[in-house]
Amino acid sequence: MTHMSGATDPTRRNVVLAGLGAIAAGVLAACGRVGGNDRAAPASQAGPSTTAATASSPLTGVAVTTTTLAATPDCIEDDDLTPTQTEGPYFKANSPERTNIRADVGGTKLRLTGTVVTTSCTPVTRALVDFWQADAAGNYDNSTFGFRGHQFTDAQGRYVLETVIPGLYPGRTRHIHVKVQAPGGRILTTQLYFAGEARNASDGIYRQECEIAVTAAADGKNGTFTFVLS
Ligand SMILES: [Fe+2]
Repeated sequence: MTHMSGATDPTRRNVVLAGLGAIAAGVLAACGRVGGNDRAAPASQAGPSTTAATASSPLTGVAVTTTTLAATPDCIEDDDLTPTQTEGPYFKANSPERTNIRADVGGTKLRLTGTVVTTSCTPVTRALVDFWQADAAGNYDNSTFGFRGHQFTDAQGRYVLETVIPGLYPGRTRHIHVKVQAPGGRILTTQLYFAGEARNASDGIYRQECEIAVTAAADGKNGTFTFVLS
């Protein structure tokens, strides 16, 4: 059985695994609250702030005012929790500690980054983030630890995952499983999704609030997702 590297706090890891084992025993919580990344701003914050600049058009010489939208905030005070999702049948405890779960077996590369925060936008340091997913062909590795790995967030609550876009398998839309736990906190079990998937509409587990924000990258895709814990 593979164990984590020596850099990990063994005491905490044991606690974590005990918790994960309990979850594996059959927690199949239904989606609860709205939350995740597609969060609507409170009325008091509705609408992005703007910056206006005026310059002469090089074509007409007429003054033209341009408006630049402010960056969308990564977290909003009193934000909703990331929804809980079913664990599914393929979780395995004792995944290796690593940020790269991608094997050289093909697929579209995905670099998923983000933060773990509280509902008051406080970054959660040393949060456990444990990912598992199907490979690009839609198969889970249930004999070893392919496409499985856990890590701990840094001082700013950040994580990074190097993987591939998971393949489809019967009965589900495209997704990535994950467990997230603040030190000493409750375990959030959830799943992440991709916008524009044909099967999203017919997958009863899918939640739009759990969609990864995906952009193109030179060698694949970049994705971001913020986990909001209580
Ligand atoms: Fe799955």
